[in-house]
Amino acid sequence: MKYDIAVLPGDGIGPEVTAQAVEILKAVGRKFGHEFVLHQGKIGGCAIDACGEPLPAATLELCKKCDAVLLGAVGGPKWDSLPGNMRPEAGLLGIRAGLELFANLRPAVIYNALKSASPLRGDIIKDGIDILVVRELTGGMYFGHKGRLRQEGMPEAAFDTETYSAEEVERIARVAFEAAMKRSRRVTSVDKANVLESSRLWREVVVRIARDYPRVELNHMYVDNAAMQLVRNPAQFDVILTSNMFGDILSDEASMITGSIGMLPSASLGSGKLGLYEPIHGSAPDIAGQDKANPIAAILSLGMMMKYSLELDQAADLIERAVKNVLDRGYRTGDIMSEGARLTGTREMGRLIGEEIEKIG
Ligand code: IPM
Ligand code: MG
Repeated sequence: MKYDIAVLPGDGIGPEVTAQAVEILKAVGRKFGHEFVLHQGKIGGCAIDACGEPLPAATLELCKKCDAVLLGAVGGPKWDSLPGNMRPEAGLLGIRAGLELFANLRPAVIYNALKSASPLRGDIIKDGIDILVVRELTGGMYFGHKGRLRQEGMPEAAFDTETYSAEEVERIARVAFEAAMKRSRRVTSVDKANVLESSRLWREVVVRIARDYPRVELNHMYVDNAAMQLVRNPAQFDVILTSNMFGDILSDEASMITGSIGMLPSASLGSGKLGLYEPIHGSAPDIAGQDKANPIAAILSLGMMMKYSLELDQAADLIERAVKNVLDRGYRTGDIMSEGARLTGTREMGRLIGEEIEKIG
């Protein structure tokens, strides 16, 4: 089969980790006889430099024509003083909204080989961690009415609004329940319904949708408690369903308890097959261009692409196994380094995983 893949490396370590994911994509193509046609596009700071805007129309058009989008990371100190709508991050928000990718899946899994990298005590993670954060991605405070209030004689003020329609909650809730059906059938819906009206609507809608999934156990948790429970007893969670803002925060926390944010992939999906796949980490400008970054999150994001957009489950499985094997053999990038392990750079880690793909399966 032939697939068109948009590749948007972005800024900082984005191009380095994306390059390794692309090598893996080629290895998968050779292995299974698929043709992946790559289309490069610009997003974020590099797009600001080249085209004067973080999301050029050509990039969005390109992505719409492709089967899937592979993205690196955006942002860096160079663009930090630009106004909000011109920052590199606006490119990311723009592409999520422009492609209507309302569902963000962020799996946080702890690898046996990396248990010592978790900042949590051994007895807390002894039962493993396997959490899927399902984050709403095109609504809430990120996209609500916002602005500055400048009035004569008043101190300057600013506001951001959290708005959710019942339809927005319903469609993301369905994604969470469907995912739970294929996992341990538990959904924890995280909100702040003791304070926020939008959370009260969220809860009502989630309860209603849950009736369609009688085999899934639903519970509700306030976000502050959820943040605490994640470090107290992470094994209690299966699927966490939450809003854009809370999901942003909790997914960073969930990733760290697995050992490294450099390990975790994400998929952003809409109602069709087109999806955007990116590591959950940022552009890490402090280590950019030094061959230090961990390419595993980008490579596992490619794995999610195989599964969700291209329906190449066997390839997805192969990528995951290859990563696990290389970790089991003791290879580590700096972020997950431990005593006695073998330190590798970005390129070597990619090469090892690629070789493993050729070998197994
Ligand atoms: C993420 C990032 C983005 C977000 C930023 C870069 C806009 O933190 O994907 O989690 O807040 O969604
Ligand atoms: Mg984030």
